[in-house]
Amino acid sequence: MIVSISELFFNRQSTIDNPQASDNMKLIIGSDHAGYAMKEAVKRFLIDRGIDVTDAGADSEASVDYTDFGIKVAREISEGRFERGILICGTGIGMSMVANRFKGVRAALANDLFSVIMSRRHNNSNILVLGGRLIGEELAFKLVEVWLETPFEGGRHQGRLEKMDF
Ligand code: RB5
Repeated sequence: MIVSISELFFNRQSTIDNPQASDNMKLIIGSDHAGYAMKEAVKRFLIDRGIDVTDAGADSEASVDYTDFGIKVAREISEGRFERGILICGTGIGMSMVANRFKGVRAALANDLFSVIMSRRHNNSNILVLGGRLIGEELAFKLVEVWLETPFEGGRHQGRLEKMDF
């Protein structure tokens, strides 16, 4: 499917406030120290919209290992206790590396709108990874909102995803 920028930005309606779009979705969020401030902001953004969010830490800006929090969140997704996860570190690189080691996890490092949309449509991403040192809060909110709203297209993409589970 060809997706134009105008379609992405101007012809879509926000449905995050529509309970049918996000009802019953259990979401877990985690960060390291570099992503802590953005995690707190994104968590508030989600809670304000009635989304059930579990915070896996970190709990402050004191230095921690991103791996510990990436593992916590990715394990929950991999074992089916949560449907979606969000991970935030400085660049998003370390978090995406660790999360994608877990079976069934499809973590997408996506700091722009096009990547976020395609990560849902084609890759059925179940973890969104953001770089807390790369983007601002307003963009992060938009990316999270769109990520939650965008459906997976299935079809030929499903078979491609199944090949990841080797
Ligand atoms: C922490 O300094 C930084 O390395 C971490 O947040 C992340 O960017 C790693 O990939």
